[in-house]
Amino acid sequence: MSPDPHSHAGTSPVRVGHLALDLAVDFESRTLAGTATWQLANPEAGREVVLDVRDLTLDSVERLDAAGNAAPADHATGPPDAVLGQALRVALAADTTALRLRYRTAPTAAALQWLAPAQTAGTQPFLFTQSQAILARTWLPCQDSPGIRFTYEATVRVPAHLLALMSAENPQQRNGSGTYHFRMTRPIPAYLMALAVGDLAFAPLSGRTGVYAELPTLPGATHEFADLENMVAAAEQLYGSYRWERYDLLVLPPSFPFGGMENPMLTFVTPTILAGDRSLTSLVAHELAHSWSGNLVTNGTWNDFWLNEGFTVYFERRIMEHLYGQDYADMLQVLGREALCHTIEEIGATSSDTHLRLHLAGRDPDEGLTEIAYEKGCALLLTLEGLIGRPRLDAFIKAYFARFSFEAMDTATFLAYLRATLLDREPGLESQLRLADWVDGPGLPTNAPVVSSRRFAAVDHALAGLESGTAADVLVPGATDWSSHEWVHFLHGLPPTLTAGQLADLDAAFGFTASGNAEILTAWFSHTVRAGYAAATPALENFLRHVGRRKFLVPLYRALLATPGGTSRARRIYAGARANYHSVATGTLDALLGTRT
Ligand code: BES
Ligand code: ZN
Repeated sequence: MSPDPHSHAGTSPVRVGHLALDLAVDFESRTLAGTATWQLANPEAGREVVLDVRDLTLDSVERLDAAGNAAPADHATGPPDAVLGQALRVALAADTTALRLRYRTAPTAAALQWLAPAQTAGTQPFLFTQSQAILARTWLPCQDSPGIRFTYEATVRVPAHLLALMSAENPQQRNGSGTYHFRMTRPIPAYLMALAVGDLAFAPLSGRTGVYAELPTLPGATHEFADLENMVAAAEQLYGSYRWERYDLLVLPPSFPFGGMENPMLTFVTPTILAGDRSLTSLVAHELAHSWSGNLVTNGTWNDFWLNEGFTVYFERRIMEHLYGQDYADMLQVLGREALCHTIEEIGATSSDTHLRLHLAGRDPDEGLTEIAYEKGCALLLTLEGLIGRPRLDAFIKAYFARFSFEAMDTATFLAYLRATLLDREPGLESQLRLADWVDGPGLPTNAPVVSSRRFAAVDHALAGLESGTAADVLVPGATDWSSHEWVHFLHGLPPTLTAGQLADLDAAFGFTASGNAEILTAWFSHTVRAGYAAATPALENFLRHVGRRKFLVPLYRALLATPGGTSRARRIYAGARANYHSVATGTLDALLGTRT
């Protein structure tokens, strides 16, 4: 396995095996404090264990023997790096079987977002973590490499009126004491460690699925995710049984920086997918698919991120096709391809950041985690599907998940497995696939299948009519049946030359500014900002103040920056909104808006 350039622990000869975590959550001081006790998997193999830490205060470091006797352990922390944090090296004695670290997090810990009641749907404060890619080390001293797995148990103490949840077996209601116990009996990497605390309630969706949300959000969430059990069943039918017992969703406050995060047993999702019409649930299929691609078979390092996301996007679309038909899945495929082409243009068609296999040593892995891994990765699997047919590809994927469950996978190992089980058995197949061009070459290889959507043909027809001057409201006779995907495709297809007056006509006909769908709003606001359509400004500023999902914020702030006088306007809006964003989003936006030196 290739070494992990983003973890000090990657080369540690001694590995962790099990974590016992005991944490108190203090909203006043915005700290987590307690102990992490690490059972070592192979304490005999070496005399030193290396952990990753970043911005943690270590109060004590002890070594434990098998009987539980504790003694202070010799330890040293290496020089701090702004991205990687520090190496924590701990010396072991001959009889050491575990380490106990007493520690506290910083109020600014990058993984954590502490929310005031006004930033939630309810009346209580909220805390959540986001550990992927390398932020677990800011709230837990750990071997923060996706190739290192451990089981865990945790005791978490929170204010008595709040509920705590983790990426583990979870309580379904408050118990009055504020002390909760968790168990994750299957080994997971540190980036899948997760904790959320808030005024949360649970609603079951089936015997093994359900949803957690703040009470005002719960009815809408229950409605939106009504098909969750069907999604799990479809996924199992495709690629094998679901290995994590329960599958629950947690709807976060709007500042959650991602659409979703596949924390095992408890996917975290943004409330911006609560569109009311179930139109954005492919995101749930995506996070669910990670229960196989990612959480069972895990990218060995962040250079291999495409193995997580490419397989997951392919799998997501297969789930959606199974449930809602090929026409539906085709729309997702076309939107994905459009996003990919846009990303390649942005990054540069010859940039090595457009390769599937990345080389992120010396950089923040966050920089490399682009649409390439998702859509170029998916397109490679589609190309293979075209060459060998679905039945053979499905058998390959199912066997791959089964063979490497609970293991790490890097690109070289994957290629060897692909060759051994498929490509080498059929002369010429690898060159037809042009595998090397996909994995270690730039852009989109020309043998990528062309994707098209029957339902988008009507949208393209309407767009053509608009170009030739037809009035907006007579354009789209079937538009009342359009899903948000058709509307998004429509908005992306609008010419970038429309005037504010023309946008006003479209708004009058279709009510974009008043849409409750965040995907539609983001696509629409890009036009309104560019054209200076002032009637949309209050809705835009409201959106930017409340929504913290980076995928929406980046294009909107970029659109603002691209207008005359836009820099100061973007900075003014950002100044009023920044406190609502997670560090993952402010990290990107500080750089984009030049508010960081
Ligand atoms: N695991 C990712 C989110 C992630 C990636 C967090 C890298 C941190 C670093 C998650 O599964 C994901 O891909 N989310 C997407 C949604 C998806 C439907 C493409 C998102 O948040 O936009
Ligand atoms: Zn994903």
